[in-house]
Amino acid sequence: MDLTLHVWRQAGPTARGAFVRYEAKDVSADMSFLELLDLINERLVERREPPIEFDHDCREGICGACGMVINGRPHGPRGATTTCQLHLRSFDDGDEIWVEPWRARALPLIKDLVVDRRALDRLIQAGGFITARTGSAPEANALPVPKRAADRAMDAAACIGCGACVAACPNASAMLFVSAKVTHLGSLPQGQPERYDRVVKMVARMDAEGFGACTNHGECMAACPKEISIDFIAQLNRDLLKATLAPPPEGRSWRGA
Ligand code: SF4
Ligand code: FES
Repeated sequence: MDLTLHVWRQAGPTARGAFVRYEAKDVSADMSFLELLDLINERLVERREPPIEFDHDCREGICGACGMVINGRPHGPRGATTTCQLHLRSFDDGDEIWVEPWRARALPLIKDLVVDRRALDRLIQAGGFITARTGSAPEANALPVPKRAADRAMDAAACIGCGACVAACPNASAMLFVSAKVTHLGSLPQGQPERYDRVVKMVARMDAEGFGACTNHGECMAACPKEISIDFIAQLNRDLLKATLAPPPEGRSWRGA
C-alpha cells in the first residue's frame, strides 16, 4: 500500500504546532498503525530528524496508552478498536491519513501526539477504589455476587482509561470514564461502603480538573474502544442524585450513606 500521513508535530506545550506530511510507500496492509509510525520514525532517525512522539505500551488493547485521533476519530476508523490494534488494511491504497493528539484542556499536550493523561489518574485517586478488606482471592471468591451485578461490573471494568471519550466529546467531558468506575465498583458488594462518597468526590474532581459537563451527545460511547455504555452515565447520575438529596449529617462524610 502507498499511504500519505499528515502528522501533528509540536515540539512542546507552548510551541506552535503544524501537520507534517510523510509518504509511506509499499507498506504491508498487515502492519499495525503503530508499526507504520515506527517505520516512519526509523527513517526520521536515519536522517537525524526528531522522531514522532507517541504514547504506547501493551500494544494489545489493554493499557489505554496509545490514544490519538486518526482522520477525525479517536483511535481511528474501526469501531471498538484501539490505535495499537488498528491495521493498515482498514485503509485504502493511496489514502491520506490525518493524525492528531487528543485535544482537551484537562489532557494538555506534551509533545507531538503525546498528552498528559494524569488528570484521569487523579479522578481514580478521588474515589475509584474500595477500602473494604476483601481478604485473599479464595475469600473474595466466596462472597456471593448476583450474576447480573457481576456482569454489569465486568462490563464497566473493561474501561482502559484511554481518554478517547474525552477526546470525542464536544465538551471534553470525562463522564463515561467516571461512570465506568462508579458502575464497576458500585455494582459490587465490596464497593458499597463508599458508593455515594465515591460519586460525589469523583464528579467534584472532574469539575476541578477542567473536564466539561455531559450534554448527552453520545460521542463518547461511539469512540470508546471497549464499548462502554452510556447507560453507566445514567447510573452515575442516579447515584449522584441520591447523594445530593440525602446528604450525610453535618460533620460526617458520605461514607456509609
Ligand atoms: S470509557 Fe472507553 S473511551 Fe473512555 S477512557 Fe474508558 S475505555 Fe477509553
Ligand atoms: S498500546 Fe496499550 S492499549 Fe494500545
